Amino acid sequence: MLYREMGTTGEQVSILGFGCMRLPTLGSYDQIDKEKTTLLLDYALQQGINYLDTAYPYHGISNSQGGESEVFLGEYLAENDCFDDIYLATKLPTWLLEKPEDMDNFLNEQLQRLQTEQIDFYLLHSLKEKRWSHLEDLGVLEFLDSATADGRIKYTGFSSHDETHFFKEVVDAYHWDLCQIQYNYLDENIQAGREGLEYAADKGMGVVIMEPLKGGILANYVPPEVQEIWDHAPVNRKPAEWALRYLWDRPEISVVLSGMNNREQLVENLIAAEDGLPHSLSREENEIMEEVKKAYSDKIMVECSACGYCIPCPNGVNIPQCFSYLNQAAMLNDISNVQMQYYFMVSDTERASNCRECGICQEMCTQKLPIMEMLKEVKKTLGN
Ligand SMILES: NC(=O)c1ccc[n+]([C@@H]2O[C@H](COP(=O)([O-])OP(=O)(O)OC[C@H]3O[C@@H](n4cnc5c(N)ncnc54)[C@H](OP(=O)(O)O)[C@@H]3O)[C@@H](O)[C@H]2O)c1
Repeated sequence: MLYREMGTTGEQVSILGFGCMRLPTLGSYDQIDKEKTTLLLDYALQQGINYLDTAYPYHGISNSQGGESEVFLGEYLAENDCFDDIYLATKLPTWLLEKPEDMDNFLNEQLQRLQTEQIDFYLLHSLKEKRWSHLEDLGVLEFLDSATADGRIKYTGFSSHDETHFFKEVVDAYHWDLCQIQYNYLDENIQAGREGLEYAADKGMGVVIMEPLKGGILANYVPPEVQEIWDHAPVNRKPAEWALRYLWDRPEISVVLSGMNNREQLVENLIAAEDGLPHSLSREENEIMEEVKKAYSDKIMVECSACGYCIPCPNGVNIPQCFSYLNQAAMLNDISNVQMQYYFMVSDTERASNCRECGICQEMCTQKLPIMEMLKEVKKTLGN
């Protein structure tokens, strides 16, 4: 296993981290298959993975309750007495915070669930622009200061799926140690994106990557146009390996988290990690990645650059986000997966079905897009 420093903390983290959001289950999401997960974690740790990422709601029945992921990890780490061998990362469910004391209560509950007295990397989970001032008013940054001072957490960070300008604003708001962003070769220009990645790394923050395979889509749903490029590449790699190697090529990235739910995936990603050095892809390999990106992007339906001039929509539609999901559906030939993501990631007040065809957005659009028509397409393709 290769290791990199987490930002400027001095901690050496494995370049492949174990995401504990998609552990093997017994059928329903809130029932972890403990036997299979134990075997997977045993092997992962033996092979040198030392970074485990979980969060309060993972493997739960809803986002407002604690899930089974933290509880299982706590049991596993205590039984194997291996807290000292790994870095444990978990997250504060920011969307559940109503009053200042909630922050301490959640952290204390998480320490109990994880059976530890200190969490190595504690992140504010899923920061959004529209919730940020509420969190600041609650004193979330002062809370991080005090929980670090009293030793309940060692390092602080945040995760976000929101836009670049907001991501940078948060980076500048505190002396963070790390951030966690969605990043893969198709998502370099959405959310924090490459700009955000470089910005955070420049400030000395460790950058942890989530959804490196776009939740599995880049490995499991490869359009024929893309497969043909892989088939003619000078090196024989599986799509997941190409996607991971593309990320480790970037020196700004500390850890790439993957949600591996069987031994084959774990073994494949471990093998890919053996060569995951910064700047390790050749010029030819980088050219292949550009071809692959182009093959995906030729399938794009809406040429939206997500400049944001069209929002706020008076009816609340998050137009750039709706178009991003429509494009994903077109590019990836995988409508049902994207429909599910649209349903979970875009709140019902922000979906295309709220469009009342006032036309204000079209007047503002820098790309002169027929936004109202395209929103109908979003509704038709992705549902209400
Ligand atoms: N902070 C946040 O808001 C947030 C959000 C998302 C994720 N995360 C964290 O980031 C972690 C990683 O994200 P992710 O789970 O979306 O990662 P991912 O690696 O993009 O997707 C995981 C899925 O990829 C597939 N996969 C993995 N390795 C493979 C391989 N070698 N070959 C074929 N398929 C493979 C599996 O899909 P199948 O199950 O279909 O086989 C697996 O479930 C999560 O586990 C979680 O800890 C955080």
